[in-house]
Amino acid sequence: MFEFLRKKNKIEPIFEVLGIDMHNHMIPCVDDGSESLEMSAECITTMWQAGFRQMYVTPHFNYPKYPNDEDDITRRYGELKHYLADQGVEMELLGIGGEYRIDDGFADRMKEPRFLTIGSDNYLLLEISLHHHRMGFENIIYDIQMLDQQVILAHPERYLYLDVDSSKFEKLKDQGVIFQCNILSLSGFYGSEAQRRALKLIEKGWVELLGTDMHNTAYARGLQEATQNKTVRKVLEHYEFMNRELIEKTRKKL
Ligand SMILES: [Fe+2]
Repeated sequence: MFEFLRKKNKIEPIFEVLGIDMHNHMIPCVDDGSESLEMSAECITTMWQAGFRQMYVTPHFNYPKYPNDEDDITRRYGELKHYLADQGVEMELLGIGGEYRIDDGFADRMKEPRFLTIGSDNYLLLEISLHHHRMGFENIIYDIQMLDQQVILAHPERYLYLDVDSSKFEKLKDQGVIFQCNILSLSGFYGSEAQRRALKLIEKGWVELLGTDMHNTAYARGLQEATQNKTVRKVLEHYEFMNRELIEKTRKKL
């Protein structure tokens, strides 16, 4: 085989150092993530080959686009788990969290809070709009923290309307918000600006978690390529992340 072809298809388990993924959309047909059980199996196999050994799944809860219901998601999670076991996919599924967006329906959600969280320590994966600044979202985060939830902000590097150097991010860190950057941001999958911002946040020491945000086979290819990406490798070499601590702290009695 030609060297460049071999190199293109190469996948190395460089993410073993992280071990666990806490952000992905592998429950099929409930959001913009995986479209079938087969696609989930393919993507999760790639994640395994790239070094991940355990994962939580985190479907979108985003009103009105993905008005998911916790009971339905839990049932579908059971189906996914069975399917992966039948197919001999080795990844250990540890549970379900949600990726909750602070949207127009969020105030209602807060009236009767019933979040799907990561592990027994109630880590809540939260996102805000990718396009529009919602005034006062920090106050909503504070209200959630008052409910004894530990907030993980998903992909802070992707909110391009927030200036990385502004006091906004610093205040969120002071507030105890955990930052989770996407691995594919580091490899340039979302463009050079998200890449630059992810690196900057990491250099500031503000990023505790790296996640795949795996959606479909295009992302799986992206993750495969990321195993050969110099920037990604450098980040893993030079910085520590708390993915493993998260699993040790939060593993539920299964
Ligand atoms: Fe996501």
